[in-house]
Amino acid sequence: FLQDTLIVYKEIILVYLEKARSLINAQCKELEPWQIIVLTAFTTLLAVWLHGFLFQQESLSSRMKKQLFKMIRKIPFVSASIQKKLNKALDDMTISLCTLKEGMTYVKSLPLQGMTESELLKKLEEYSSMAQVKWENGKVSGTVYSGEQQLTKLLVKVYGDFAWSNPLHPDIFPGVRKMEAEVVRMACALFNGGPNSCGAVTSGGTESILMACKAYRDLAYERGIKYPEILAPISVHAAFDKAAHYFGMKIVHLPLNKKTMQVDVICKAMRRAISRNTAMLVCSAPQFPHGIIDPIEEVAKLAVKYKIPLHVDACLGGFLIAFMEKAGYSLLPFDFRVKGVTSISADTHKYGYAPKGSSVILYSDKKYRRYQFFVVPNWQGGLYASPTIAGSRPGGIIAACWATMMHIGEAGYVEATKKIIATARFIASELRKIDGIFVFGNPEVSVVALGSNVFDIFRLSNSLTSKGWNLNTLQFPSSIHICVTLLHTKPKVKEQFVEDVRTSVSEIMKNPKAKTTGMGAIYGMAQSIPDRSMVSEISRLFLDCLYTTDLPSTDNKHMNGSAGYH
Ligand SMILES: *Cc1c(COP(=O)(O)O)cnc(C)c1O
Ligand SMILES: *[C@@H]1O[C@H](CO)[C@@H](O)[C@H](O)[C@H]1NC(C)=O
Repeated sequence: FLQDTLIVYKEIILVYLEKARSLINAQCKELEPWQIIVLTAFTTLLAVWLHGFLFQQESLSSRMKKQLFKMIRKIPFVSASIQKKLNKALDDMTISLCTLKEGMTYVKSLPLQGMTESELLKKLEEYSSMAQVKWENGKVSGTVYSGEQQLTKLLVKVYGDFAWSNPLHPDIFPGVRKMEAEVVRMACALFNGGPNSCGAVTSGGTESILMACKAYRDLAYERGIKYPEILAPISVHAAFDKAAHYFGMKIVHLPLNKKTMQVDVICKAMRRAISRNTAMLVCSAPQFPHGIIDPIEEVAKLAVKYKIPLHVDACLGGFLIAFMEKAGYSLLPFDFRVKGVTSISADTHKYGYAPKGSSVILYSDKKYRRYQFFVVPNWQGGLYASPTIAGSRPGGIIAACWATMMHIGEAGYVEATKKIIATARFIASELRKIDGIFVFGNPEVSVVALGSNVFDIFRLSNSLTSKGWNLNTLQFPSSIHICVTLLHTKPKVKEQFVEDVRTSVSEIMKNPKAKTTGMGAIYGMAQSIPDRSMVSEISRLFLDCLYTTDLPSTDNKHMNGSAGYH
């Protein structure tokens, strides 16, 4: 019976093929051979173009959306209104970020004669007096992680001793070479790297992440992957997007459980997203927005199973989590002890308490680091080999980083970690008692993120700003967070914070549906604009504004009495 049906099918197919053949032949009967050739070539090209159009790094729907918005923006009255809004945004930003005090002006060219030291120091006072936010009293989230005066003095001295040094010339500055190697080795030991573990000192977390992505991209190229992809939870730092953008990779963001920031969801989504293009997996320990540690062991199992490198971004909390066990707080394994973890980034300039401009990227094995290195064998300027993005690097910063680690030592880091974690846990548990707000997930390290199902959380951010606090605002979903540093561990700071949140929330709860105003409204709006390219455009204006050396024009209508100069 089966054979009979097969034969029937075969005959039907043959009949149709025959029909198609005679149809095509009939169509082409009138055509000359050159026409057939041109038509064939044209159809082939069209097919190739169509394939290229449909299958790009950016999905078709996202590209169509962009195109649609681009067209809408071309409509004359829309474009005029958008331009007006952009100008207003620029004015507002200039006022809030780039206004000078009464009588101040910008320097726009070199002084003809250099200033004397005393003139210069006097001039400098003008610049340091510009700061309105006083981070020293512990009211700012993150930003300055130590600020301790004794340490500052030491760092300035060490920097001075190595101010002219440059690790690009190890023959001339052998001491700096030794210090960099030692910083890397100490960091490898902290994260339980084996004898083959290695790394490099970079200029910051972003560069550390860029280097890991670059290394894994080149490894992927060598494995024959043409379009390498980064698989990362949506909560990873934007530096991974930057890396994807710089290095021609694609980043695939995996969703989290919105409420609990639950973990196993990532793994399932991750397993499904793994393809033959996957160049690397990413976990954060902890991630920046909500301070949650990703399920590193589970993701590492995927990494081992599919033989894909796994980067753990511990930029933020690396120099806390490495000491938490000794400080009496247990964590699930997160470092090179977990089989499958191939690299870790950790910022010495965050909880390492070193000055800004230093971080480490570590690998479990030298076979990965070699893809990070960049070598030009044929340069006229000589054989050129450099480990990271920069060519010349500030030896003074490396020396200061080394000195910080040596000065604080294990006992110092454990002590600092104890204080910071205790403070963060106190804040999280007290805030959980307040009606109307909730803490995201189970923050185990130093960041506590807040949201609300009852009112717009950005109103709380406004209210806290008016009480002198400076927190981080987050989006998708709307939330705010405090990143606890040594400055928050000073007496009464945490109690004051909890108290201020409590009074703010009870004030807001009197009328939970009231409209959000001020900066809070702007964050809300920025999130809700469907045309994300507009948000990018405004962000570019913001960057422009940072480089402004023009005084706001006096005929500007936003610039009167209260706003602007004061
Ligand atoms: C701060 C941070 C980075 C990047 O650090 P930079 O030093 O600002 O370049 C990366 N990842 C996380 C989780 C961070 O918090
Ligand atoms: C001055 O600024 C206020 C608000 O900042 C505004 O309402 C008012 O219209 C401005 N006045 C002029 C003359 O521009």
